[in-house]
Amino acid sequence: MRSLIDIKDLSVQEIGELIAVAEDIIADPEKYAHKCAGKKLATLFFEPSTRTRLSFEAAMYELGGHVIGFSSAQNSSTAKGESVSDTVRTVSCYADIIAMRHPKEGAPLVASRRASVPIINAGDGGHNHPTQTLADLLTIHREKGGFENLTIGLCGDLKFGRTVHSLITAMSRYGGVRFVMISPEELCVPEYIKTEILDPAGSPYTECRELEPVMEQLDILYMTRVQRERFFNEADYIRLKDTYVLTEDKLRNAKQDLCIMHPLPRVNEISVSVDDDPRACYFKQVLYGKYIRMALILKLLQEAKA
Ligand code: NCD
Repeated sequence: MRSLIDIKDLSVQEIGELIAVAEDIIADPEKYAHKCAGKKLATLFFEPSTRTRLSFEAAMYELGGHVIGFSSAQNSSTAKGESVSDTVRTVSCYADIIAMRHPKEGAPLVASRRASVPIINAGDGGHNHPTQTLADLLTIHREKGGFENLTIGLCGDLKFGRTVHSLITAMSRYGGVRFVMISPEELCVPEYIKTEILDPAGSPYTECRELEPVMEQLDILYMTRVQRERFFNEADYIRLKDTYVLTEDKLRNAKQDLCIMHPLPRVNEISVSVDDDPRACYFKQVLYGKYIRMALILKLLQEAKA
């Protein structure tokens, strides 16, 4: 059974196909309005979410399907001590496809081994978030016309930010992409991202502490929130949370066609005054996330049937 646990589960060609389907949905949504009639998506969210869960749900409704699920572990039998494996085996009896978010790294992978329907990883701890990456890739593709030869700045919590890990993994597969990783020392990208992803791909990267000196090099600036829920110590969180706050002033030297991204939720990393800048793309990311999730649901359901 084909699931999506890691963005590498999809080939570069398949990502191109998903983008093409998402573009077709954007151009002609009516054509897709009944494609999932009679099908059910279950959203099993053991961790808070606004965009990811609601965009999966909106995606399934716009395909003519139905949605069941829960939005907190407290509302499920997890509160009684049920294992993830038992929960997904149960839900496989009710749903045709499952989107799952869990605070433990690897939980969706374990679930995919027990489920009899496709599992989509909707975020596992500080590890991966492949469908946010699909939303990011559709955004980059629409804004920049492709992926090759871009310089992408990733700024903020690169240690716990799972969207960053999946995005680096995806973008490192395209030619000529350069990464500039901007973070406090305590929040720099995990070693395995360098040794297992960037180095084998031969992707050039630099690490630095300050955003402004590198701003002018960037084609994409991907801001992230400091992931409070993954900190052991509140004092560290408070010390680090406002390290980077993007303002119009800091964009003075940025390229005219810079694409400013953020997976959201934003706390304080981007001043609201930047929202009106034509280079701000983070609310477009939200919208595109729905379309690419529609394309993904269609693909996985089709393959499950075959
Ligand atoms: C991200 C996540 O859950 O990792 N949010 C999202 O899904 N768009 C980013 C975050 O929470 O900071």
